[in-house]
Amino acid sequence: MQKLIVPGNQVINGSIKVSGAKNAAVAVLPASIISGSKVYIENIPEIDDVFSLLSILESMGINMRRRGRNAMEIDSSNMRSTYALPYEMVKKLRASAYFMGSLLGRFGYAEVPAPGGCELGPRPIDQHLKGFAALGADVNMEHGVVKLKAKKLTGAQIYLDVVSVGATINLMMAAATAEGRTVIENVAKEPEVVDVANFLNAMGASVRGAGTDIIRIDGVKDFYSASHSIIPDRIEAGTLLMAGAATGGDLELQDVIPTHLEAPIAKLKEIGYNINTTLDTVSVKRSSNLNAADIKTFPYPGFPTDLQPLGMVVLTQADGASIITENVFESRFKHVDELKRMGARIKLEGRAAIIDGGKPLTGAPVKVTDLRAGAALVVAGLVASGETVLSGVEHIYRGYERLEEKFASLGIKIYSQQEEDISQISKQV
Ligand code: EPZ
Repeated sequence: MQKLIVPGNQVINGSIKVSGAKNAAVAVLPASIISGSKVYIENIPEIDDVFSLLSILESMGINMRRRGRNAMEIDSSNMRSTYALPYEMVKKLRASAYFMGSLLGRFGYAEVPAPGGCELGPRPIDQHLKGFAALGADVNMEHGVVKLKAKKLTGAQIYLDVVSVGATINLMMAAATAEGRTVIENVAKEPEVVDVANFLNAMGASVRGAGTDIIRIDGVKDFYSASHSIIPDRIEAGTLLMAGAATGGDLELQDVIPTHLEAPIAKLKEIGYNINTTLDTVSVKRSSNLNAADIKTFPYPGFPTDLQPLGMVVLTQADGASIITENVFESRFKHVDELKRMGARIKLEGRAAIIDGGKPLTGAPVKVTDLRAGAALVVAGLVASGETVLSGVEHIYRGYERLEEKFASLGIKIYSQQEEDISQISKQV
């Protein structure tokens, strides 16, 4: 296990470029299978989730070539038509569920271990499977593996019971090659959904309405080569913005799409921060007094659940009682116990967390349970007095590209350290 040492009382100052969006890249890479040709994708973040996906693509017989630091050429023309994804890989990487839609769409067959739950609570895929069945696939679950088979995929009318990013993207991919028109209603409107739709269309698909409540897909037979640039990561941008805010610094983010950040920006303004935006930058400046505020997470364009842990750290700095309501995931408060070890005064009531803000944080040893909780604990460590030591930081490297390097360019010192294996220590005794 790896550790991060975060000295306290640090203030973020400077300007930094935001990377490509993890949650777009982890869908665009599996979607590249549908082209059956060579595609060129750039602005891919170099993060562990992407590296895992690239190794899965390689094991499917797909030829790939790096074209510069964040760009790949992926040629799926000669890939194997049947491939059973290894369980270990899927357990680690929820986004491997996207191979269900892309393999089914390309070959009419997919065999993908059902992704398990995680620290955010159960992560069901019932809406994905309901959609695949509506498109004409036989859906079976054998020994924890989802097996999808369709002689032919036919366009269908699908109403999602739950607004789901994953189900929306997975069904778009399968419907892209179905015969006839598919209409999916009550879909997710996240920018990452739009990015995948744009990529599918670049390869020759006919997807209309991504970003609205209804998506229409007219299946096509032929797909082609395409090139695509992944959109900027609004969650990384929101993470850095909240880090700048919480540390009382003066931070400018470059290469962002401010309209993707409207909810977090509005909330930071409500709390009292000065925010400025241009066409492709957002900057935050500390103001004199901070007000307590309430956050309710909702599907886009609501406040993103992925920034809920970061919003919590910001609210520990604002005097008074703030309430955070987590409406998207069942249990996305694993970071609360760790923040309480750092002196934060937070009470949980079901889906609500009540923060008694304005009390100083102190550094402590804390455990990272998931990607965004990890980022929040780093930010809390920067704000706290004294040193914070994070364990389980491999979660952070799954989704934040070169985090230490980025922080260093903003005047922030954090140090990674290999956690000594306890058995080694016992041998030394
Ligand atoms: C995506 O996960 C993101 N991951 C998550 O980001 C993000 O938090 C989430 O969307 C919500 O925005 C990727 O894009 C790789 P959902 P996903 O399907 O698609 C329920 C991060 O840190 N649901 O939109 O798995 C589900 O249980 C990660 O980057 C069903 O009930 O999320 C949840 O309560 C964390 N049945 C809600 O819907 C289904 O079939 C939203 O889940 C599918 C989902």
